[in-house]
Amino acid sequence: METAESQRNIDLAAEVLANASTVAVLTGAGVSAESGVPTFRASDGLWEGHRIEDVASPEGFGRNPGLVWQFYNARRANVAKVKPNPAHTFLAQLEDLFPKAFTLVTQNVDGLHQLAGSRNVLELHGSLRRTRCTVCEEVRDQFLDPLAEMPTCVLCEGLLRPDIVWFGEILPQEIWLDAVEATISCEVFLVVGTSAVVHPAAGLIELAQTAGAKVVEANLTPTVASDVADIGLYGPSGQLLPQVMKRFRELKGMA
Ligand code: OAD
Repeated sequence: METAESQRNIDLAAEVLANASTVAVLTGAGVSAESGVPTFRASDGLWEGHRIEDVASPEGFGRNPGLVWQFYNARRANVAKVKPNPAHTFLAQLEDLFPKAFTLVTQNVDGLHQLAGSRNVLELHGSLRRTRCTVCEEVRDQFLDPLAEMPTCVLCEGLLRPDIVWFGEILPQEIWLDAVEATISCEVFLVVGTSAVVHPAAGLIELAQTAGAKVVEANLTPTVASDVADIGLYGPSGQLLPQVMKRFRELKGMA
């Protein structure tokens, strides 16, 4: 049962979307939580028992590449088993309603947005599906096929690493610039399932607001970005966002 306030916010979110012509979205791990992909920031500060700096930094990889591959192979195997949830579907449907005026910026590396049908996806933090050679730099799509414990490059036999942006590394610049462009030119900026603490991605939220967009946040709980949000939808995004779509369709007179 929705409270009156949460129902009002669902209606408001649908209204701002119905009145907009351009939409940009920033997603984080929470959008995939209902699919069964764990989020990052558990209260103990560990990722599935590992310290972040051990499994998600170039230094950690340099110290113990076997441990890092064990972690990413487990994440790849988990993602191979899961499916997009209604929040991913909502975002794919929204893109269909805003042809050429919709950008989905994601911090996620699980590929579930694309599996749900989203097309214009900017992956800020890389992809679990790809590897990059530490020697010849070749980037290869490995899909979610199982990889060796310490996979090596088919071209030069160098050690592969996940094609993921780790702490201390810079974002892929072209993708980042496209994300900034989409952020400053949208009328509605929807933020789904991110704790909004990892920069520069989180900075897009304030940038959107400064540039004049209406910011809508959908998260299980309020976050550090909630003060910036014009509308907050708090609860599981896979349950809330389909209700926004239903109201949006009513407002647009769609079946
Ligand atoms: P976090 O784990 O920091 O935050 C997940 C957010 O999702 C939290 O705010 C939760 O409240 C919210 N959440 C959980 N379940 C949800 C649900 N069912 N519906 C809606 N929201 C839900 O994940 P991110 O913000 O994505 O970077 O973390 C950002 C980056 O930190 C990641 O991309 C990763 C990590 O370092 C790299 O791997 C480079």
